[in-house]
Amino acid sequence: MKREVHPGRLRGKISLPGDKSISHRALILNALAHGKARISNFLDGEDCLGTLRCLRQLGVSVEKIAPRAVILEGRGLEKLKEPEDVLYVGNSGTTIRLLMGVLSGLPGSSVLTGDASILRRPMGRVAVPLQLMGARIIGRKGGTLAPIAIQGGSLTSLRYETPVASAQLKSAILLAGLFAEGITEVIEPLQSRDHTERMLRSMGARLWTNGNLVAVEGRPRLQAQDIDVPGDISSAAFWLVGATILPSSELLLENVGLNPTRSGILDALREMGAKIEVSNPRSVCGEPVADLLVESAELEGISIGGELIPRLIDEIPILALAAACARGRTIIRDAGELRLKESDRLEATATLLKRLGAKIEVMPDGLIIDGPTAWLGGNTESFGDHRLAMTMAIAGLLAPVSIEGTECTETSYPGFWETLEEVRK
Ligand code: S3P
Repeated sequence: MKREVHPGRLRGKISLPGDKSISHRALILNALAHGKARISNFLDGEDCLGTLRCLRQLGVSVEKIAPRAVILEGRGLEKLKEPEDVLYVGNSGTTIRLLMGVLSGLPGSSVLTGDASILRRPMGRVAVPLQLMGARIIGRKGGTLAPIAIQGGSLTSLRYETPVASAQLKSAILLAGLFAEGITEVIEPLQSRDHTERMLRSMGARLWTNGNLVAVEGRPRLQAQDIDVPGDISSAAFWLVGATILPSSELLLENVGLNPTRSGILDALREMGAKIEVSNPRSVCGEPVADLLVESAELEGISIGGELIPRLIDEIPILALAAACARGRTIIRDAGELRLKESDRLEATATLLKRLGAKIEVMPDGLIIDGPTAWLGGNTESFGDHRLAMTMAIAGLLAPVSIEGTECTETSYPGFWETLEEVRK
């Protein structure tokens, strides 16, 4: 579907949809636990609904009782059933990778597949440690690409150093570790998001961390837990950047998850000169949450890389838009993982922003952006990637754009276009 966005400023109040990463985990971990759980502010986006459908195929009783609310009855580690048909994950990397971990522990066979983007994304990084634990995994190109077939059951624990900082990879190993006797340890080169660890611990698993090492003891009896999902900081990022770069803008973003493994976008934007105030900090289901007030500000270019990158990995397309508005040069390094997301986000972000007038050079692991840009507006597209579609929508508030293929925003932000209409003045 094609949409047009016209210039405006942003003013008002937004209540953010539930965090995507936490919504997936609330479903999967409760499915492995004992008892009933209610998940509120659940993200009704396509990705999480994909996880919900796959869990139903594994015999989990899960009902949507209202918009953004789900009731689920856990089956414990023992009683998941072998799926009768192929599990289809749509566009969701989190679904396929986390479920690879679970299915490795499940006696029986299963097949996972997804859309064209999923068929291109690397699965070997997950298959390798799961094979070391004892799962039989095959897939296209030597087990590195979906469809992925898994023969699971009787796993042994593992100590594994991951080649990349990836919460999906780490979580897949930890989930498989739940099915193995003994202690499974994962060591990452840099810390990735830790929602799995927090939730597992609160459900009763014995789990320790030491720097970038996480250890979990196998065969726990997990207790199902009601979860109130914090608002998604990755969705908030579009509004944070929008209100910053558009003059006379001010937005109050309510109920934003501020887990330190996710809040790198605040650090980067503040270093650039953004005005973002945090109020009403609280803890919701073991996750830090607060309200954010953001107003227009002049930005300056910065250099980022290293440990900050996993903390803002999904926000780099919208951060690149902010950088193109900033005075001076912004350098983003150590972000080669972006080439392996829903699209090649380094190439795609540069292609789209350049079409609108930005000056961007693509490096193998990052971007060099020279601002400020005299925005031209123009015709753009999403490359089927939700975060690019929303980045283009915010760019359209600077100079008119048309965006082809906007339906993909349903992946992570149902209601995005309606909210844009409400706060665009
Ligand atoms: C996610 C982890 C990140 C992120 C993705 C969601 C998760 O991917 O990009 O949108 O929920 O674990 P990687 O773990 O592959 O970096």
